[in-house]
Amino acid sequence: MDLRLTGKVAAITGASEGIGKGIALALAKEGVDVAICARRKDQLEATAEELRAATGRRVVAITADLTKQEDAERFINTVAQEFGRIDILVNNAGSAPGGIIETLGEDAWMQGLQLKFMGYVRCIKAALPIMRKQGGGRVVNLIGNDGVKESYWEIVPGACNAAGQNLTKSLAGQYGKHNISFVAVNPGPVRTERWKGLVQAMSRDMNLSYEVADQLAPSSIPLGRIAEVEEVANLVTYLASPLAHYVNGTMIEIDGGQQKALMDRARG
Ligand SMILES: NC(=O)c1ccc[n+]([C@@H]2O[C@H](COP(=O)([O-])OP(=O)(O)OC[C@H]3O[C@@H](n4cnc5c(N)ncnc54)[C@H](OP(=O)(O)O)[C@@H]3O)[C@@H](O)[C@H]2O)c1
Repeated sequence: MDLRLTGKVAAITGASEGIGKGIALALAKEGVDVAICARRKDQLEATAEELRAATGRRVVAITADLTKQEDAERFINTVAQEFGRIDILVNNAGSAPGGIIETLGEDAWMQGLQLKFMGYVRCIKAALPIMRKQGGGRVVNLIGNDGVKESYWEIVPGACNAAGQNLTKSLAGQYGKHNISFVAVNPGPVRTERWKGLVQAMSRDMNLSYEVADQLAPSSIPLGRIAEVEEVANLVTYLASPLAHYVNGTMIEIDGGQQKALMDRARG
């Protein structure tokens, strides 16, 4: 299938590692020129070089901390200056701490919202005038299945994700007339660099051994394993394509059919 992506321009946030890097690679392989951002310059530039070498596409790396409004605006505006347009915005940089309500501090809630929700708001707000001026665009928001499949240890990510899902649907209702469409992708657990850290946190908070904590997620997934980065990146690449522009104001779970309630039960 020709995804008709060749020559398009994508801005991908949080793409020096993990799912964002996988998305940048998958899009560049389809002929997309990409701009990526993250906070750590060395890691970001190493990834940009890796993407150029693997795909031969133009890759621009812009250091930015999306908890800061001025950085988000600078990222988006620099992409538009460098490439003359932004066809695709993939909001991906985001994480929110796990934990239970009686031990989570105010700072954990604010930290989650500041990046995982407001980081997306900031980039979308900056990209909209550019997309309107060029006659359309595509926004893909990497969110998470915690927003629709609740779990007591994931209440901060769950709240931030639910907010992002609502934002996605609300803006789809507003900007369709400008030919800008929005979709949310909700992964379950994905094997990234930070997966090990998450398992360690679960094992600490639930008084479980690392080995038992590591089996919690797979045992709640009918397919018996967590997702690989490429599986999420492939879905996002299809959704970023003009072929999927009509998939608007909705969200797609990619979580192997995870049954979160089984995780809560195992956590006790
Ligand atoms: N992995 C999962 O299991 C999973 C499951 C469901 C949903 N998701 C969602 O999928 C997305 C990607 O997850 P991931 O696991 O790939 O994340 P990750 O491994 O933590 O990667 C995060 C990327 O974002 C960058 N980043 C972090 N904070 C940033 C900030 N303040 N400003 C700009 N960039 C920042 C990081 O680089 P620097 O540290 O250098 O800034 C890195 O490039 C997230 O939105 C996450 O919530 C992930």
